[in-house]
Amino acid sequence: MKLPAALETFADREHVFEFMARGSRVPRLDVSHNVILYLEDITVAFDGFRALNDLTLYVDAGELRCIIGPNGAGKTTMMDVITGKTRPDSGSAWFGQTIDLLQLDEPEIAAAGIGRKFQKPTVFTEHSVFENLELAMAGDKRVWRILFAKLTPAQIERIESVLETIGLKDQRDARAGSLSHGQKQWLEIGMLLMQDPQLLLVDEPVAGMTPQETERTAELLLGLAGKHSVVVVEHDMAFVRSIARKVTVLHEGSVLAEGSLDEVQNNAKVVEVYLGE
Ligand SMILES: Nc1ncnc2c1ncn2[C@@H]1O[C@H](COP(=O)(O)OP(=O)(O)OP(=O)(O)O)[C@@H](O)[C@H]1O
Ligand SMILES: [Mg+2]
Repeated sequence: MKLPAALETFADREHVFEFMARGSRVPRLDVSHNVILYLEDITVAFDGFRALNDLTLYVDAGELRCIIGPNGAGKTTMMDVITGKTRPDSGSAWFGQTIDLLQLDEPEIAAAGIGRKFQKPTVFTEHSVFENLELAMAGDKRVWRILFAKLTPAQIERIESVLETIGLKDQRDARAGSLSHGQKQWLEIGMLLMQDPQLLLVDEPVAGMTPQETERTAELLLGLAGKHSVVVVEHDMAFVRSIARKVTVLHEGSVLAEGSLDEVQNNAKVVEVYLGE
């Protein structure tokens, strides 16, 4: 019997599917030097304008790092480089000792263990909170197949544990579309956690949140540190103060200052940049 071409490929066990080839191209994460992210001399130019200008920055494994800086400092562009959305013109970017991020594309970087939370939540509004986490676990959007597959006890336990972490246990059966803005943001963080990323990048997580939601988000991110490395970009300084460990100030595409929040806030160069805004 002659199989259709697509099925023939599928039936051929020697065939290397694209996603398998991909997986094998990415070495295992190695943080034995206790550094999870190395950015060195990164420059990104848009029509000659340097959004990042010789940026050098290191993040330790398990660290919670806050990145602050005026509008246009290059904070989001830095995340774009880490996640493979933007290719730098020069410099190097390594995930641990072994993974050269500049050799990988966006899906490969995500699969290697870097999760990114965008500002606008992208949840499946017509599905329940639980189902959203279930879909995220599979890491793709084949909704129909996943929702009809039976979950293993271990998978259910995993979803329950993430529901607990993001504080949405009571909303597990609620339609994601019915959640408040803050709850949607937490659900999206939960969806990232389902993939168990080693490094989480969060850009302006508390924008648009109520004070209570902001406080809850601080607890959530603090709870993730240690198990994960977390890089948080935020303008809300009260929020930054509530979670800050080490803080990096970006300005015109480079690191202007780094240290505790008090240290950087008392730094003369930092004061000048913020007053000049
Ligand atoms: N795709 C692009 N094309 C041209 N210029 C860009 C592009 N992306 C960013 N820029 C410019 O690069 C600079 C850095 O932008 P970026 O978004 O990284 O700043 P940011 O620190 O995240 O600012 P904000 O706090 O406002 O979010 C800005 O001047 C911006 O206009
Ligand atoms: Mg930004």
